[in-house]
Amino acid sequence: MTAGSFVVAGGSRGIGLAIVRHLAAHAARVDVWSRAADELVADGVVRHIPCDLADPAAVLPEPPEAVEGAVYCPGTITLKSFRSLDEADFRHDLEVNLLGAVRFLKACQPRLAGRDGRPASVVLFSTVAVGQGMPMHASIAAAKGAVEGLVRSLAAEWAPRVRVNAVAPALTDTGLAARLLASPEKREAMAARYPLKRVGSADDAAALACFLLSESSGWITGQVVGVDGGLSTLRV
Ligand SMILES: NC(=O)c1ccc[n+]([C@@H]2O[C@H](COP(=O)([O-])OP(=O)(O)OC[C@H]3O[C@@H](n4cnc5c(N)ncnc54)[C@H](OP(=O)(O)O)[C@@H]3O)[C@@H](O)[C@H]2O)c1
Repeated sequence: MTAGSFVVAGGSRGIGLAIVRHLAAHAARVDVWSRAADELVADGVVRHIPCDLADPAAVLPEPPEAVEGAVYCPGTITLKSFRSLDEADFRHDLEVNLLGAVRFLKACQPRLAGRDGRPASVVLFSTVAVGQGMPMHASIAAAKGAVEGLVRSLAAEWAPRVRVNAVAPALTDTGLAARLLASPEKREAMAARYPLKRVGSADDAAALACFLLSESSGWITGQVVGVDGGLSTLRV
């Protein structure tokens, strides 16, 4: 990956932070939009810009002049039975996962520009629970299903100038999933569900996102790619 400008929404923790750390080694500029800087260390390349993308009234930051890659990481894990879910849960999941991404992309769209005649690249996040039905996932799967529809629609609408893809992780060891991995017993039980016998790391998902941002994936658009230890496709 060569020097260009990137915007990473939700790059202060978890998978987004792992993406920023990778990009920072190669990019000219990486702008991180999130509410707090958290674990992010700003320097000459990486800068933190405070912003709440789930707030419809928020005034969004100005992206760099030419954005080679834009990534939207904010997300939720709402695990409740349909009986326990209320409309506020569905609204919140749509606000953070879908509408925040829409706001982010509307802010970035005028600045998306690939270098040297190549398309710019957008990466969004889905979940394994869209392609494979799982109990307790109705709200988050509905919101991420909407994200997958957005990915394919924008990939068609913006080709050939911009590529649009999504990463669909399964359980990944970040703050978002901390409650599900809160004891050695829980961690072991979760790992046992996966054909590859472990849960994902932030770097597993970040590596795929960075590939989708790079020119190595230059002929890939409109795809939702799993990084899920084999869970979505294998029965072992
Ligand atoms: N971890 C998993 O097991 C898992 C599984 C499947 C899919 N995913 C998806 O993968 C993506 C990344 O997940 P993650 O585990 O890395 O999440 P994470 O650790 O919770 O990090 C989320 C990032 O988004 C930012 N963010 C959250 N709400 C925001 C808002 N309203 N406005 C601006 N920034 C906001 C957070 O910073 P602030 O809080 O400071 O704003 C943080 O930088 C998500 O879309 C998630 O749904 C994760």
